[in-house]
Amino acid sequence: MTPNETWNDLARYLAAKKTVDDRALNRLVLETARRNLPSAPPLRVIELGAGIGTMLTRLLEWGFLPAEVEYTAVDAAPALAAHAVAHLREWARSHNYAFSVEESGYTLQSAEQSVKIRWQTADAVEFAARAAPVYHLLVAHAFLDLVHLPTALPTFLRLIPNGVFLFTLNFDGVTVFEPPAEGDDVVLAHYHRTMDERLTEGGAPAGESKTGRRLLSLLPSLGARILAAGSSDWVVFPQNGAYPHAEAEFLQTILNFVEGSLRGREGLDASLLKRWMARRRAQVEAGELIYIAHQLDVAGLAR
Ligand SMILES: C[S@@+](CC[C@H](N)C(=O)[O-])C[C@H]1O[C@@H](n2cnc3c(N)ncnc32)[C@H](O)[C@@H]1O
Repeated sequence: MTPNETWNDLARYLAAKKTVDDRALNRLVLETARRNLPSAPPLRVIELGAGIGTMLTRLLEWGFLPAEVEYTAVDAAPALAAHAVAHLREWARSHNYAFSVEESGYTLQSAEQSVKIRWQTADAVEFAARAAPVYHLLVAHAFLDLVHLPTALPTFLRLIPNGVFLFTLNFDGVTVFEPPAEGDDVVLAHYHRTMDERLTEGGAPAGESKTGRRLLSLLPSLGARILAAGSSDWVVFPQNGAYPHAEAEFLQTILNFVEGSLRGREGLDASLLKRWMARRRAQVEAGELIYIAHQLDVAGLAR
């Protein structure tokens, strides 16, 4: 597979994930974050690990954002920036917003709302360390489990003095595939361990499998105040032997992630993994697989 095909696959996965995330997001946590936003315009938002921009379009669809918004989206993957433009342009067309490209970024404009978007291709920690701390809202969606929280979180929080954080879909160490299959316990224990052992290209630790619960103790220890926290589990299930939207593709990609992280892993029987993968893939094709991933959403105030 060429690098371009890999990025296209990732972008398609992020688009397919949108309906799963929509169901999962904890509405109480979202509403608590929204109620604590300052009212004076413009609202300055920074999102870390923004992917192709589906959290921004979701927040607009759900009426979370006010009339005047300045939105900085940061993602480390240069190839996703073009996919983000395509997503924003298509979303604008189908939601009656004008989309324009300017020197400083993009604008989404409707009769009631103006959203100025600055898309930054950068490592979130490096960006956060040098950015001015001028933001009112910090969003990280399905992202914090990819970074080393004890070092990254203080840097992220400095971006929002007295501002609101909204950290959503933080994986919390539980994966369920149903119906049960031979090797579940072994495969999933190894899978979770790969998250705890993951390193950046530079060899630094990057993420952990129990990020959700870790946030609940780490945030207060950094002087941040948690105002709401709750589950945002992914729950994907077939109906009449079929999955809604692009969720069959979403499931196949999740299985690819499991396989990719476990291929050649010491201590894991390769033939067991092969049988497990084949069975789970066949179950998606037959519309029989149920998938649950336990995640937590957390919102609150930085100091
Ligand atoms: C699981 S995806 C989630 C994307 C998006 N938030 C969503 O839910 O659709 C994680 C994203 O984080 C980005 N990413 C990973 N490590 C990063 C880092 N150190 N700095 C910035 N972005 C990063 C990846 O490129 C990817 O787009």
